[in-house]
Amino acid sequence: MDNIDLASEAVKAMANSYSPYSQFKVGAAILTEAGNIYSGCNVENISFGLTICAERNAIVQAVAAEGPGMKLKEVVVTNHNEEGVSGACSPCGACRQFMIEFSDQDTKVTYPGENGNVETTAEKLLPNSFRF
Ligand code: THU
Repeated sequence: MDNIDLASEAVKAMANSYSPYSQFKVGAAILTEAGNIYSGCNVENISFGLTICAERNAIVQAVAAEGPGMKLKEVVVTNHNEEGVSGACSPCGACRQFMIEFSDQDTKVTYPGENGNVETTAEKLLPNSFRF
């Protein structure tokens, strides 16, 4: 399983995006430590704050399938605007916090940047994250 498979799963998931308000489709695919792939799209709501991002959608699917021990090995995110063009877009703060919950220091995150894909880690996206 590699990045290319995850990227194509993210693109497939993006096709199911429910985004009538922003017209911005997002797809995410994750590889878990157990070796399984899950994907998700953004699901918007007329009460805007209830919108669920693609990354969180994919992660809750993984937990539902694998249980509370689910760990993220890799996350790939993609997007299309209303013209079907992909643009720079890094995971939002809520999704970074959500990813950190199931990540270790090696969990890779790939998202579209200004000059092609950016490959980073969950930890770099949210350094010094909240713990108690
Ligand atoms: N969105 C995601 O799915 N993931 C992110 O990390 C950033 C934003 C979605 C939420 C909303 O449906 C649309 O993008 C525009 O904000």
